Amino acid sequence: VTTMVFITVINKERKDVMTVTPWLAPVVWEETFDTSLIDSFYKMQNITVATTVFALGKYVQFLKDFLESAEKHYMQGYRVHYYIFTDQPEAVPMVTLGANRSLTTLKLPSSNRWQEITLRRMEKLEKLIDTQMINEVDYIFSLDVDTKFYGHWGAETLGDIVAVIHPGYYSTPRDEFPYERRPESQAYIPQGMGDYYYGGAVIGGRVEEVHKLAKICRMQLDMDKANSIEAAWQEESHLNKYFLYNKPTKILSPEYLWQDFKSKTDDIKIIRFSQVIKNYAEVRPNP
Ligand SMILES: *[C@@H]1O[C@H](CO)[C@@H](O)[C@H](O)[C@H]1NC(C)=O
Ligand SMILES: *[C@@H]1O[C@H](CO)[C@@H](O)[C@H](O)[C@H]1NC(C)=O
Repeated sequence: VTTMVFITVINKERKDVMTVTPWLAPVVWEETFDTSLIDSFYKMQNITVATTVFALGKYVQFLKDFLESAEKHYMQGYRVHYYIFTDQPEAVPMVTLGANRSLTTLKLPSSNRWQEITLRRMEKLEKLIDTQMINEVDYIFSLDVDTKFYGHWGAETLGDIVAVIHPGYYSTPRDEFPYERRPESQAYIPQGMGDYYYGGAVIGGRVEEVHKLAKICRMQLDMDKANSIEAAWQEESHLNKYFLYNKPTKILSPEYLWQDFKSKTDDIKIIRFSQVIKNYAEVRPNP
């Protein structure tokens, strides 16, 4: 049945954008999928989609818009369990959740370096899957919290292991991607290699696959730390390295990760999820 869905996806091909990768994974763009067909497949399976966000320090201010907009646009009709990692559980807003949707707040200690916060996410994700998710959850998305949903984000995004193309680099030549270029880092990608520049704001897939990703990235982050090196874009650099050798089975177009400050281009028919404009000096504990 999965094969049938896949073929339908690539048959509705758009001509102006790349809708399939060289390794035959679909790239999801508006007009490349049929929502009712996809829903008829996944709704039968009564799946649960865990959704994790990290809201530390001043980032708690983004939770309200994130959750309210997710309740309008994200995985409507599916069982969704939000897991909010925060150092201020009392600041998690009360947002009315729809049927079959729930929220768990998990307390983390504060950190005074934002780099440290992004470096710890893989470890927390790995542990959360180990302790709470393996038998309860089918799919998981780890999403950045300083974001908002503006349009439909549904089951067309589900796959074994799912990455998003970073909106800042989808038309950039490969050798200009901001991969980690120092061989001393575990995130190193040599010139001439790599497929896409993936955004760290969205990681998804089946729970076992995301666990494997989180574990390997966490180990590589630990090795870098032991060698006193921090990759150019922290977790995102390690994620790009992981996806170079473990190809995503589905890729989300920049419709699924835009940036509010960027004007829409012609190939983006709909912005579904976008990073909000923020004043870094106001939200980060250090420059
Ligand atoms: C769907 O899954 C949920 C949670 O796993 C479970 O509580 C519920 O009974 C299931 N419903 C059906 C119709 O199987
Ligand atoms: C909630 O899940 C049950 C299956 O467990 C389903 O029958 C019901 O339609 C769902 N409700 C909504 C509003 O999605």
